[in-house]
Amino acid sequence: EQNRTSLIMIFGATGDLAKRKLFPSLYRLFSKNKMDKFAVIGVARRALSNEDFQRSVKESVISALGNKENLDEFVSHFYYQSHDVADSSSYVSLRKFADQIDENYELEGNRIFYLAMAPEFFGPIALHLKSDGLTDVKGYKRLVIEKPFGHDLESAKELNQQIRSAFSEKEVYRIDHYLGKEMVRNIEVIRFANAIFEPLWNNRYISNIQITSSETLGVEERGRYYETSGALRDMLQNHMMQMVALLAMEPPISLTTDEVRSEKVRVFRSLRTFEGEEVKQYFVRGQYGEGTIQDEKVPKYRDEAMVDKESNTETFVAGKIMIDNFRWAGVPFYIRTGKRMATKSTKIVVQFKDIPMNLYYQPEKMLNPNLLVIHIQPEEGITLHLNAKKAGGHLDAQEVKLSFANTGIHAMNTPEGYEKLLYDCMRGDATNFTHWDEVAYSWAFVDKISEAWEKTKAEFPNYESGTMGPKAADELLEKDGFFWWPVT
Ligand code: BG6
Repeated sequence: EQNRTSLIMIFGATGDLAKRKLFPSLYRLFSKNKMDKFAVIGVARRALSNEDFQRSVKESVISALGNKENLDEFVSHFYYQSHDVADSSSYVSLRKFADQIDENYELEGNRIFYLAMAPEFFGPIALHLKSDGLTDVKGYKRLVIEKPFGHDLESAKELNQQIRSAFSEKEVYRIDHYLGKEMVRNIEVIRFANAIFEPLWNNRYISNIQITSSETLGVEERGRYYETSGALRDMLQNHMMQMVALLAMEPPISLTTDEVRSEKVRVFRSLRTFEGEEVKQYFVRGQYGEGTIQDEKVPKYRDEAMVDKESNTETFVAGKIMIDNFRWAGVPFYIRTGKRMATKSTKIVVQFKDIPMNLYYQPEKMLNPNLLVIHIQPEEGITLHLNAKKAGGHLDAQEVKLSFANTGIHAMNTPEGYEKLLYDCMRGDATNFTHWDEVAYSWAFVDKISEAWEKTKAEFPNYESGTMGPKAADELLEKDGFFWWPVT
């Protein structure tokens, strides 16, 4: 039986992520009775009383979900400890405090350490947790880590070493919040629970796969971080590559964590790597200029706060990924993601090959290929594009769409995803968290691209805000005889 009793320690408890995502998600789990005995210790630098902390937890739940039942009871499980992440004595008092709460709530020595703070602290905190005895518990101990997991392969390795000296791989939960999204989790079910897709899911029947994750927001207040990251590291290395892996992996022997993760790793191992000059043929970078989004004029990236006036950071990336294995040889996976684009949307389009011969030929009208569209957000569902005769018409084929929409569609950015991930972590299910090997392979892939880009200054800005990115991103497909299927 899964033991969901735990003491959750959130480092960075006064931060944005804790307020916007973690507290509301914990409340939802609480209100659905999905937690057993629990207590939360919020840890952050500033001095704060338990009462003040509880008030702020309550406010963040209300602002995310509205006024809810049993809020006072919920927040009564929350405690606060002011903490200096670099000081051993601070950890020692935290340990005493944790032991005492553990005893009061009978938490059986189960501990979840959630690091919701700047990545430079991940390693040092993990080391201190061990050396100062916080991981000395008789129950389970788990470390939840937010992104970014390193900045490149080198730094990721270093971080991993620090973490792994305190926690085993099984105890590390690396968050990729796309793996908390309902329809991302559905990819596997759509593929492996249907007789009509899996037999076609290969290079004999699929011509290409397109994944778009576009945003309308700009860089907001995150200029400092984003300047060191860019779209390649911020979105592609993690979220986009995870979706590629789920779409491309072989059916696992079973759905256990190890089996699923090892199939994903095999996809990463078959990625064709591009280096140097080659990168240009497969990857396109962009940076937004001024433009209009929802009738509002927005500035160019280089005019955003904490951004270099001459910045060479990409806010858009499109790429053609090749997976060199038996199933996928020859099938391009086109991916694109960017900020300040025309619409906020994440969609996957699987384009099937044309039929051998078109009997329904009409001048100037091609038969549409079959498409399977997986709508990740804002809508959640799937659409299958077929050709059929419309009633009353001649024997001509027209496009019809079979659609399934998830009911109870939630607004964007609800805590939903985090709620599922937190629940998984409490149950000890790491399937939807990234294994170190996945992280390492995808950094190795991405590093080569950024190395090539760093060598030359791009001609930025090269796309207008409110558009679908630079022209070169369209040409990337056009030269293969394809185009991006519209996602709006
Ligand atoms: C985060 C990135 O990981 O994902 C952000 O750091 C980005 O830059 C966000 O805006 C997008 O997530 P979602 O769930 O809104 O698609």
